[in-house]
Amino acid sequence: MRGGARRGSSLSKLGLFRDGAVLLRDGLIAAVGPRTEVEALPEAKAAEKLDVGGRVVLPGFVDAHTHLVHAASRAEEYELRIQGASYEEIARKGGGILNSVKKLRAATSEALKGRALAALKTFVAHGTTTIEAKSGYGLDVASELKVLQLHQELAAQQPVEIVSTFLGAHVVPADFRKGGDGAGKYLRLLTEKMIPEVAAAGLAEYCDVFCERGAFTVAQTKRVLEAGRRYGMVPRMHAEQLSRTGGTQLAVKLEAASCDHLERVNRADIRALGKSKTVAGLLPGCDFHLGLKRYAPARELIEAGAIVSLATDCNPGTSPTVSMPMILSLACTQLRMTPAEAIAAATINAAYSLGRDRRIGSLEVGKQADLAVFEVEDYREIPYYFGVNTCWMAVKRGALLYSRG
Ligand code: NIG
Ligand code: FE
Repeated sequence: MRGGARRGSSLSKLGLFRDGAVLLRDGLIAAVGPRTEVEALPEAKAAEKLDVGGRVVLPGFVDAHTHLVHAASRAEEYELRIQGASYEEIARKGGGILNSVKKLRAATSEALKGRALAALKTFVAHGTTTIEAKSGYGLDVASELKVLQLHQELAAQQPVEIVSTFLGAHVVPADFRKGGDGAGKYLRLLTEKMIPEVAAAGLAEYCDVFCERGAFTVAQTKRVLEAGRRYGMVPRMHAEQLSRTGGTQLAVKLEAASCDHLERVNRADIRALGKSKTVAGLLPGCDFHLGLKRYAPARELIEAGAIVSLATDCNPGTSPTVSMPMILSLACTQLRMTPAEAIAAATINAAYSLGRDRRIGSLEVGKQADLAVFEVEDYREIPYYFGVNTCWMAVKRGALLYSRG
């Protein structure tokens, strides 16, 4: 997958080598191509050789949308939904995101860290070597800073690369909902205190907003993202998940790095994404877990030329999974993406959405040696075996992170 972000028909061009080899040096890729050519290089002769026995080697997955740090599952809400309650009904009764906020505020940093570390190990075991992580279950100054500090500590203490995003604008917290103009007051806290403090501490590269009925309007989203940008944080957005708000048009106008969900985009939104550099981040795990039938129009987005990426949206409310292979399966059967398109969307395009496509997301000379090896004979079998993790080995910056063999 040589050469940056993929649009349209180029999304399916993997540049596959049968019987290939990768030469690693100092955590970088020194050569890649047909095995006989790579093995003939003088440097390869002196290198330590690892035979992966006909398995499939890919760039490590880049999961560009997760809510890594949270305190607990919401299995009780899962059961309520199965019995007929909707995600939004549960949220209106104080469940949903507010449920996770209550639990996170009560949790110690140590407990949150332990849970996140365990999740990171599981990400790696599924072939993911880089993730984006959002705050957004704290929603007060101290708790949001606590989570963003954890991102920083986790990034330093374990090998998975973590890209930190401030999502203080997830919903208006419960303590602001009593009395008049709670949203206005919370927006002032976000733009006048939280964003400046997060930026001063250098704790987030991106600023995200949940632009949705029951969360933030397009006008409120614009205020937050513009404040974030003034403090050096690049916008990302959650948009058109449960209702169409027009958030996608804002994301394109603000040149957001990504606009994610997109289940309810219209033709004009698809056209706008097709012409922009804003990545269309698809999260089919949410629709699957919530039991919704309306998946994002991936085919139309690809045909319009949008830069489509895939992510787990790992979070306790709508997509409790760390498995990119499962997301690839959903992308293939529900979004009708081909296995090749899904792989490119989960690697090079996801890397682009995190501003890291020059360093990760493909196997190219000079790039970081982030690899995932799968115990399959054909790359199409990675999504084909749904609900089964075929990841056999993961390598980050040339170092072995995980191996099953
Ligand atoms: O991406 N939509 C906002 N954030 C999450 C859901 C968060 C939650 O329910 O806890 C999402 O789907
Ligand atoms: Fe999300």
